[in-house]
Amino acid sequence: MMKKGKLEKCDMFVALSKQRSIQILIGVGLLYLVLVTVEIPFVFRAGFSAVSQESLSRPNRLNIEEELEEREAPTRPLESVSMNSNEPTQSRKPDQMVVSRLKFDQKMFESDSKSGATELYKSAKVAWEVGKKFWKELQSGKVRINSEKVENRSESCLHSVSLTGSEFAAGGRVMVLPCGLTLGSHITLVGKPRVAHEEHDAKISMTKDDDDTVLVSQFKIELQGLKTVDGEDPPRILHFNPRLKGDWSGQPVIEQNTCYRMQWGSAQRCEGWKSRADEETVDDQVKCEKWIRDDNGRLEESKATWWLSRLIGRTKKVTVDWPFPFAEDKLFVLTLSAGFEGYHINVDGRHVTSFPYRTGFTLEDATGLSVNGDVDVHSVFAASLPTSHPSYAPQQHLDLSSRWVAPPLPDGEVELFIGILSAGNHFSERMAVRKSWMQHRLIRSSNVVARFFVALHARKEVNVELRKEAEFFGDIVIVPYMDNYDLVVLKTVAICEYGVRRMSAKYIMKCDDDTFVRVDAVIDEAKKVPEGRSLYVGNINYYHKPLRYGKWAVTYEEWPEEDYPPYANGPGYILSSDIAQFIASEFEARKLRLFKMEDVSMGMWVEKFNRTNPVEYLHSLKFCQFGCIEDYLTAHYQSPRQMLCMWDKLQTQGRPHCCNMR
Ligand SMILES: *[C@@H]1O[C@H](CO)[C@@H](O)[C@H](O)[C@H]1NC(C)=O
Ligand SMILES: *[C@@H]1O[C@H](CO)[C@@H](O)[C@H](O)[C@H]1NC(C)=O
Repeated sequence: MMKKGKLEKCDMFVALSKQRSIQILIGVGLLYLVLVTVEIPFVFRAGFSAVSQESLSRPNRLNIEEELEEREAPTRPLESVSMNSNEPTQSRKPDQMVVSRLKFDQKMFESDSKSGATELYKSAKVAWEVGKKFWKELQSGKVRINSEKVENRSESCLHSVSLTGSEFAAGGRVMVLPCGLTLGSHITLVGKPRVAHEEHDAKISMTKDDDDTVLVSQFKIELQGLKTVDGEDPPRILHFNPRLKGDWSGQPVIEQNTCYRMQWGSAQRCEGWKSRADEETVDDQVKCEKWIRDDNGRLEESKATWWLSRLIGRTKKVTVDWPFPFAEDKLFVLTLSAGFEGYHINVDGRHVTSFPYRTGFTLEDATGLSVNGDVDVHSVFAASLPTSHPSYAPQQHLDLSSRWVAPPLPDGEVELFIGILSAGNHFSERMAVRKSWMQHRLIRSSNVVARFFVALHARKEVNVELRKEAEFFGDIVIVPYMDNYDLVVLKTVAICEYGVRRMSAKYIMKCDDDTFVRVDAVIDEAKKVPEGRSLYVGNINYYHKPLRYGKWAVTYEEWPEEDYPPYANGPGYILSSDIAQFIASEFEARKLRLFKMEDVSMGMWVEKFNRTNPVEYLHSLKFCQFGCIEDYLTAHYQSPRQMLCMWDKLQTQGRPHCCNMR
C-alpha cells in the first residue's frame, strides 16, 4: 500500500514542479518528498542491500521500501542522513558493508574425524545455518522491534516482589527483579543456616588431603546481572558469602566480592575485626563490623555467660559486642539495601557489612537475587524497586553523535588493523571503546583501522539494534553465525580475513571490547621486530597445560597433547599480515584446525606457519593479562567507566595510568 502511495506522489511531483502556484499544503508534501529523495542514495550506498550479494534473493527495490519504513523509527538519528549525503561518492566504497566475507563451507564443518574436535565443528555448523537464516530475516526487514512492546516492558517493573520459601525454591532459588535495583531499594531475606556437614570437596574444605574432611556450613547470597551477557556466567554484582565454620582462618568469616566477565575481583573479608579508622567508609558506615571471636580467650560454651556478666557487671561504659551474625539452625533476618556509595547488609536489625559499588554495572543491572548453599530460605521480599527500566534499551548506551562515527576505509595500505571481539548486546562496551582509545589520532587519520567483530545474538531485537548501530557508526563487522562462547575463534579468522583482504594492513591485532589499547605504543612494540620478518607479538604463554577438570575442562578428545603450543594471551596480540593471510587461506581450504580457545588456536596456527617460515615470537608482560599495570601496552577487564578514565589520564597526563575503580 505504501509503495503505491509513493509512486503516485512521484507523478504528482513531476506535475507540480511545472506549475508555480502551490498551496501551502502541497508545499509540505514537497518537503517530505525532498527528504525521501535525499535518503534514497544513502540507502543505495550504505544500505544492507549491497551487503548480501550472495544470500539475498529479494529484489533491491523491496529492500529500499523497507529501509525507508524503518527510517521512521524515532531512534533514527538525523546526522546519519546529512553525513552520508554530504560524503563524496568515491569514499563510500564497499567498506560500509558490514558483513564478514569469510566463506563458510558447510562441508568444512562436517565432522572432521582426524582433528577430534567434532563437537565444535557440529556446533559451528548449526550456528552458521541458524545465523544465515536470522540474517536473511533481518535483511528482509520483517524483524522489527515493536516500540509499544518496548514501552510495555516498563509496565512489567514491579514496585515490590515477595516470595515464600517454597516459591523461591520453585524458581530455582533465584528471585527475578525485572528492572533491577535503584537507590534505596532493599531486599529482606528470612532464612536459617543448616547444621554443618562434612565436606569432602578439597576446594571447599581447603585441605590438601582428600581424606581429610572438615565441617562446613556456608551459603552465598548474590546479586546477579541476569540480562547482561549471554554465553557467560552472569556477572556477580555482589557476592555475599558467610562461612559459619570459617575457612583457612579457622574463624567465622564473611567474604564479599564481585565477578565481572567471569573474573573475580579481590575479596573483601570480614573476620570479626572492625574496619580500621583510616579505611574507606561506605555512606559513613564501616566495611566490617566487629564480632566476638573464639580466639579472644573465651570458649564457645562460656560465651553466653560471659556476655551476661559483662552486661550486668558493668553499668558505666557498656561496649556492646555481638556474636557472629549467623548461627547454625537459628533464624536470621537479613536486609540488603542499596545506598549512595555501596550495598549495606544488616542482620537482625544490626549493621554487619558494607560493600562499595565496584563494577561498571549500574544498580539496574542487578536483575536477580540468588541464594545457594547451606541455608533454608523462609521468605524473600524486595521493595522500593525502580518502577521503570531506563537503560534496558540500547539507545541508552549508544551516543548517536557523528563525532564517534568511524572514518571511511582508506585506499592504501594501513599500518595496523585492530579487530575487536564483541558480543551483540555489548552496546555500552563498544561505546566506551569508541569514546576512548578509538579516538586516537592514528585511528582518526586512518593510519590505523579498528573494527568490532560481532556475531548474531539469540534475541532478535538485539540484532535489529546491532544492525542500526553498525550502519550508523560504520565500525562493526558482522560475522553471521549465532554467537557462542566456544566459537569466538571464527571471529578471529574473520579478523584475519578482513585485515588482509578488505584492506591491506601491515600488522593485524586482535583484542576484546574490554581491552584498552595504546595504539601508538603497540605499533612501536611490533616495530622492534626487523622489517620484513613474520611476527607474533603479545603476552606469550609457554608450556601451558590444558585444564583437565572443573567447569572449563578440556577433554583429551578436544586436546590430546600434553602442552599447548606457545600462544599469546587472547585480549591483545599482533600478527604480521603474512600469517593472517595464511590463516584466512587455510581456513577456506578447510585445512585450519579449530579449537574452542581462540588464543590457543592462534598459537597452533602460528606454530604451523613457523614450520615453513620462521616467525619472531616477541613476548611482553605489558600486554597485561589480568587487568592493568602501570606502563601497560594493553589492559584487560576494563569496564566502560575505566576505559573512559584511562583515556582521560592518557590524554591529560600523557602517560599510561590505571583506573582502579570499576
Ligand atoms: C503489557 O504486557 C502484558 C504481558 O506482559 C500484557 O498483559 C499487557 O496487556 C500489555 N499491556 C499493553 C498496554 O500492551
Ligand atoms: C619456529 O621454528 C624454528 C625453526 O624451525 C624453531 O627453532 C622454533 O622452535 C619454532 N618456534 C616455535 C615456537 O615453534
